[in-house]
Parts: sequence; C-alpha cells; structure tokens
Amino acid sequence: YDERSGFAADVPELDVTGIAEPGAVTIVVPTFNESANVRRLLKLITESVPARLPCEVVFVDDSTDDTPQVIAEAAQDCPFPVTVLHREEPVGGLGGAVVEGMKTAGSEWIVVMDGDCQHPPSLVPELVATGQRANAGLVVASRYIDGGSRAGLADSYRIAVSRGATWLTKALFPRRLRGISDPMSGFFAVRRGDLTAEALKPLGYKILLELAVRSRPRAVAEVPFVFQERYAGESKSTAREGLRFLRHLAGLRTSSPLARLVGFGLIGASGFVPNLAGLWALTLLGLHYVPAEILANQLGVAWNFLLIEQLLFRDRRAHRRWWDRLGRFALLANADLVLRIPLIALLVHRFGMGAVPATALALVMTFVLRFAGTEALVYLP
Ligand code: GDD
Ligand code: MN
Repeated sequence: YDERSGFAADVPELDVTGIAEPGAVTIVVPTFNESANVRRLLKLITESVPARLPCEVVFVDDSTDDTPQVIAEAAQDCPFPVTVLHREEPVGGLGGAVVEGMKTAGSEWIVVMDGDCQHPPSLVPELVATGQRANAGLVVASRYIDGGSRAGLADSYRIAVSRGATWLTKALFPRRLRGISDPMSGFFAVRRGDLTAEALKPLGYKILLELAVRSRPRAVAEVPFVFQERYAGESKSTAREGLRFLRHLAGLRTSSPLARLVGFGLIGASGFVPNLAGLWALTLLGLHYVPAEILANQLGVAWNFLLIEQLLFRDRRAHRRWWDRLGRFALLANADLVLRIPLIALLVHRFGMGAVPATALALVMTFVLRFAGTEALVYLP
C-alpha cells in the first residue's frame, strides 16, 4: 500500500504487471465499442514508445461488442504488457473507467488517452519527458496552445459547443485551472503520487477537469497536440452526455458548504419563475389568486426540488426514497413560509425593528435555516 498516493500496491484479482521504476508509464485507455480502432491504437503505441521507456497499457472497457477479444488478440504482437479490465457494471462513464484504470497502474506516470486514435501515441514519451523535466504533477496535451489544433473536430456545431464549455469551465474555476489552456482535453499525463484517486467523483467525459479541480497537482505543464480525426466509428458523446457534464460542473463547483449555500440560494431564486408563471396561468383560468398562489408555490417547490436533487445533492440521495425526500423538502419549504410571519412579528414587537429590515432579516434567517434543515433532515443518512 502506497501511503502517498493511497493506491493498493498490487491488485490481486488482476494480472497487473506493475512497473514501478521512475519514468515508467501506464497508458490508460477507456473503450466503449472500439473494436475497429484498438488494433491500430496498439500498433501506433508500439511504434512510438521507445524501449527505454517501460510501458504497460490498461484498457478499461465497457463495451457491448467484441472489443475485449480484439484487444486480447492484438496484444500478442505487443512488446509490452496489455491488460483489459472489462466492467460488467459501468459506473461514472468514461471518467469512472479512467479512475478504475488509474487505481491499477503500477508506474510512476499514468497517461490517459482515447481508444479511437484521435490522440497521437507519438506524444506519450514527450508528455512524460516534459513532466520529468518540469517536475510537474500533471502534463496536459492541449489543442489551444501554439502548435496545437483541433483538426479532428470538424463540424462547426461541436466546435461551438467545445468553445462554450471551455469558456464556462474556466470562468467557474479561474484559480484551479490556471495554467491549463485545455481543461476539456482527454489526453494527459499525471504523476501517480499527485493523484488522489479516492477523492475523485468522476462523472462522464471530463476526467481531466475532475482531476485538476479535486486532486490539485503541484505543478502543471502543457504540450501542444493536434486532435486527429477519429480512425473508425463514431463519437460516443450524446446530448445526454452534455447534461451529465453540466451536473458534473455543478458537483465540482459546490463541494464546499458555503458554495452549496450559494447554490441553494440561486436555485431558490430561480424558483420564482415557475411560481409566477403558474400564478399567471391559474388566475388566467379564473382561479382566485389565494388558492392560485398556494398551488403555484408548490410548482416552485417542485422545481427547486428537482434542481437541488440533480445539481446539489446528487450523491447524497441514496439514504431515502425519492417520495420521502420530496415530502420532507416540501414540508421544510412550507414551514419556512409559516414560520416567517411570526418571526417578523417577533423582530418588530420584541426587538423594535422596522418592518422592512425585520422582513429582510427573517428572510435570511429562514433561508439559512431551510438550507441547514434540508442538509440535515433530507440528505443526511
Ligand atoms: N470505458 C468507457 N466507458 N469508455 C468510454 C465511454 C464509457 O462509458 N464513453 C466513451 N468511452 C471511450 C471511447 O470508446 C473512446 O475511446 C474515448 O472514451 C473517447 O470517446 P469519444 O466518444 O471518441 O469522445 P470524443 O472524441 O467525442 O471526445 C474526446 O475529445 C473531447 C475533446 O473534444 C474525449 O477525449 C473528450 O474527453 C474530450 O473532451
Ligand atoms: Mn473520439
């Protein structure tokens, strides 16, 4: 057991030929139905990784096709050890696969790359050498520095999405991503000692972002690269993957209690939109505004509940059933409304405050109470 990295030194159920010398590299490749690509990828790795750089390749595979068999066959022609870790129950998607592969890695350096040949293996030695030279913990292969490009990202829709996502991400994590021009890259090298695999909660494609934000490697270096065309097949990324990315961002951004409080407030404020829209629609239908507001308020509560579940407490839902959580959440939201009036009265009559500051203070107090109550009563085991 390696104290510093928290890794098990060897994983018994796997045939991992660990290479522990400094400068050695474990290449981790996530694959999902890449049977037409893996043979070529192994050939390219064989051609580009020199004998003096000991290497092993670990595929973490969630395929439903014959990718594992194709890898096993192609591996026989490789001068280095190749392992396939096939997951029957894939968790965390691409990122989850990469972290599982990292946990089995025996080398000082871990290089993560795609299985579809969009990442040129000829760059592997340079990533490691740069890391050694710069004494860095993380080396990112970047499309956005001089000499890099995204030639393989041909269609303008994907370019626009990629650009927007990069901009949003850098705006959300200005400090943690300083020095990383391409936080969306799926091609990078990380030093095993700089990795805190247990602290990672990967969710989908953006494993480098997860690592940069949660593991915080000591120093980061970059190497330019040209993002190639896919060799065969199609990208596995979907619109659903886009939604997963937004949930991932929210999870990363709200890991501290204070950030969660802010998130809770923003979601609460956004609840005014369905609330007011509901009120407008119901009164238009001829309902009196009092019952209309009571109903419309529940719409706001439901909206807040959905967003909070997806964005704020995604990984804390397992202790209760969804209707139990919704019941408790709705109770807290309505208790908040009921509590506010007597609290304002108390502040005005007992403490002599004016009505407006008393109302403002009561709003803040019930808001913080509701947040604490939601954490403690809805999402704590
Ligand atoms: N094990 C596993 N499980 N592998 C997966 C999964 C999964 O759920 N989903 C995708 N993969 C594998 C693919 O088989 C491929 O080897 C690699 O992950 C990348 O998947 P692609 O579907 O080819 O991704 P992409 O080309 O759209 O996106 C790549 O470039 C982006 C930058 O434009 C990835 O590297 C992204 O991380 C990167 O942001
Ligand atoms: Mn690809």
